[in-house]
Amino acid sequence: MATPIEIHKFDTVVVGAGGAGMRAALEAGQRSHTAVLTKLYPTRSHTGAAQGGMCAALANVEEDNWEWHTFDTVKGGDYLVDQDAAEVMCKEAIDAVLDLEKMGLPFSRTPQGRIDQRRFGGHTRDHGKAAVRRSCYAADRTGHMILQTLYQQCTKHEIEFFNEFYVLDLVLAEGAVAGVVAYELATGTLHVFQAKAVVFATGGFGKMYKVSSNAHTLTGDGPGIIWRKGLPLEDMEFFQFHPTGIWKMGILLSEAARGEGGILRNKDGERFMERYAPTIKDLAPRDMVSRAIYTEIRQGRGCGPAGDHVYLDLTHLPPEQLDAKLPDITEFARTYLGIEPYDDPIPIQPTAHYAMGGIPTDLLGRVLASTDTVVPGLYAAGECACVSVHGANRLGTNSLLDINVFGKRSGIAAAEYAASAPMPELPPDPAAYVENMLTRLLDNAGGESVAAIRRDLQETMDVNAMVYRTEATLKQAEVDIATLKERYARAGVMDKGRRYNTDLLEAVELGFLLDLAQVLVIGARARNESRGGHFREDYPNRDDVNFLRHTMAYRMGGTEPASPTTEVRLDYKPVTMTRYEPTERKY
Ligand code: FUM
Repeated sequence: MATPIEIHKFDTVVVGAGGAGMRAALEAGQRSHTAVLTKLYPTRSHTGAAQGGMCAALANVEEDNWEWHTFDTVKGGDYLVDQDAAEVMCKEAIDAVLDLEKMGLPFSRTPQGRIDQRRFGGHTRDHGKAAVRRSCYAADRTGHMILQTLYQQCTKHEIEFFNEFYVLDLVLAEGAVAGVVAYELATGTLHVFQAKAVVFATGGFGKMYKVSSNAHTLTGDGPGIIWRKGLPLEDMEFFQFHPTGIWKMGILLSEAARGEGGILRNKDGERFMERYAPTIKDLAPRDMVSRAIYTEIRQGRGCGPAGDHVYLDLTHLPPEQLDAKLPDITEFARTYLGIEPYDDPIPIQPTAHYAMGGIPTDLLGRVLASTDTVVPGLYAAGECACVSVHGANRLGTNSLLDINVFGKRSGIAAAEYAASAPMPELPPDPAAYVENMLTRLLDNAGGESVAAIRRDLQETMDVNAMVYRTEATLKQAEVDIATLKERYARAGVMDKGRRYNTDLLEAVELGFLLDLAQVLVIGARARNESRGGHFREDYPNRDDVNFLRHTMAYRMGGTEPASPTTEVRLDYKPVTMTRYEPTERKY
């Protein structure tokens, strides 16, 4: 394919325009010549789907402090959290919220005019004594408001956006960043962005699952690129299943519904969480609630003719409270299920929601090349990254916090690095890898359908690598993924055009999903214990002697997208502990 190629030069390039990307860009753009590249329009980024809030121990409505927040984050993450990172996040949370307030974010308010706060799963007063009001929110549109606010600020500071520019490769020269290669959706042109520093903020990869709260665009592009470069990925086996997705569809119904007093009920109308988490009940961490829901279903107490879901009951809450605090999710119930939540309970099931693992970074967002070296000029933040503030299970509202705290930190660090680094030389033919990848997909006449491979991937991940896992199910997923990769090598696209070739886009995205699914499953097979979101029925206990450690996965062989010959080598690194020794995780 004779693809036109354009070259651009920037000090700092931010890849992704969700909350983490724009928070990074806001800092980098005021310190260095910065470009933001996004495969979407910024305000369509998935941060906009985050509903319930961003936590910070403001203590606006009851006693709270950042140390309690840190403890909850560490315990909620089943002690796999790097405690120095959690301390930074929870301490800086307060300024992160106040920064957004000063930028103009319309938070919901108390009658006295302060930022209101509500309860969320796993957030407690004084080390687990009772649920605490820590989540700052804007009705159930908090992510949407963050996205709009950050975009306004970026526009005000005249930061340059390249919208619908899909980054497909990272250019390295002598082990350091030299830029990225992007495919422009509107024209099919390839663009090389020569840069001193690059910040990846590309979001998650929940679309490897069928029932998922994730947008179609969440295909792990950043971690996929990093993986193909031979750089490691961390803790990929830990994926979060949010308890309350709309039955069969997976669309998120915020945990804020339970924070406002909503109750989960089984077919007998029983508030079953009282049996699983007697102290904080429906507000236990998500991994525990999701397992409880599936236990109810497996033991015959699920709802509906197939007994395959439970209910989120809001009928006891005043309609004016639902209208003021949960307007979006109550509307979702009406729109997607035809249910009036004032009167009837809403059918829900766990939904693939959030990747705890990803691109390993240090506290400045610098990407690790190994357990103790960094890639000069390379940064990552947000869901695509793993600074390890979430460990084995993220607490609700800690992700909007993470993107703000570590987005800001990585933006500052990237710009400071760029200020002192010379512009790197581009290697010869920097877009060759991407050209070959696109040409193969456009020219392939092998007849395999991208949609069919994606469907089969999602099917095996839902059946074999979801809330409950065993050696046998994970082995099955591994075998299935190997077969799917062989089929992918024969996959082509019907649309051969250059303009808005979404067929080609989806084919590329599927390659990333297949690569990352393999890493997830192999990491999960090797972790013979249960911890947070990773529950092994054949190893139901946490094993701190053998597994209180992070998984580092490295690609062996197979440099092509979703190569059938790629093998995964696993290594491990210690968890950073500062003040909390692992104890039994009771709520
Ligand atoms: O339930 C929710 O509103 C989701 C929040 C989160 O994932 O942090």
